[in-house]
Amino acid sequence: MYGNFTLKQEPVILGLESSCDETAAAIVRGRSLICSEIISSAAEQAKYGGVVPEIASRAHTDAVDEVTKRALAAAHMSVQDIDAVAVTYGAGLLGALLVGLSFGKALAYSLNVPLIAVNHIRGHMAASYLTDPEIQPPYITLLASGGHTAILHTKTELASVVLGGTCDDAAGEAFDKVARTLGLEYPGGVNIERLAKSGQPSIKFPSPLIRRDNGFAFSYSGLKTSVINYMHNAEQRGEKVNLADVACSFQHAAVDPLAERAVQCAKSLGVSTIVAGGGVVANGYLRSRLTSLCKENSLRLVLPEKKFCTDNAAMIAEEGCTQYRHGNFSSMDVNAKAQIPL
Ligand code: KG4
Ligand code: ZN
Repeated sequence: MYGNFTLKQEPVILGLESSCDETAAAIVRGRSLICSEIISSAAEQAKYGGVVPEIASRAHTDAVDEVTKRALAAAHMSVQDIDAVAVTYGAGLLGALLVGLSFGKALAYSLNVPLIAVNHIRGHMAASYLTDPEIQPPYITLLASGGHTAILHTKTELASVVLGGTCDDAAGEAFDKVARTLGLEYPGGVNIERLAKSGQPSIKFPSPLIRRDNGFAFSYSGLKTSVINYMHNAEQRGEKVNLADVACSFQHAAVDPLAERAVQCAKSLGVSTIVAGGGVVANGYLRSRLTSLCKENSLRLVLPEKKFCTDNAAMIAEEGCTQYRHGNFSSMDVNAKAQIPL
């Protein structure tokens, strides 16, 4: 029992996501995904070389009702079938978050069902349940998105310890900034990956991995600056740069330490499973490095499909399912937060 109603074993949860440039709605029943819909303003944002917060907020306002209707139609459901509404409340762009959160609150209130305010980062970490609903902690979580980079020891469904995080830029942020330096369009990560396919990792860029007395951390700012300096120096000397080699070398430098360190953490803590999430985990090279390293070390790897690595509402609904099962519901006065510490 929770309050005046009984928790369901397999609740139908509507997930809503609007933290950046994707307006998304998804429906799960328990851990089973029923549908996932996205309306993206990325093409509009690309004209400006990155996300313009006001454009994102306006796009969410236009799309949130429509994307929810699409999800309900795809699930052959009506709003009355929903047992709880899970919605991202942070971290992200404040105006963008407020659109989804206000919509989610209004819907939960009108349906008289629980509201579950979801931390976007925990959503990324829950995306692996879409691949394997049976994953059980403890496991190592590799999180690499546009705003966060960390390796965590997930001890229980609700508790993770950060083993090492970034002290400046996130991995995805470095991909985006390097992409801009190479003259590639937003969103940068996927365009670096595309260009890197025809290049060789022939340039030695510094590793973002930093050793610390009590462990390790990442610094992607130094790697990014090193690529910018490389381009700048070549330009000053009038040398022609092989952009595909720069993209490939950067990709290796950015991604190898993530995969290697995640595997080392699993081995040193005696944990047999690694899960991963966040936009950078859509990177094919990172996925293949993780896959081969886990195989060599007899570790189980659970990767979300690429479409569930970048922002989506299915991962928010999955995290909503975890919180629902623990009876962790939010009050109507929950506010949006631009930042939430890991
Ligand atoms: O998780 P996400 O969609 O949004 C945040 O929560 O930040 O991550 C977006 C980030 C961007 O920086 C983007 O460049 C990066 O993920 N990204 C990639 C790839 N696809 C998206 N980075 C490298 N390779 C990719 N294929
Ligand atoms: Zn995200």
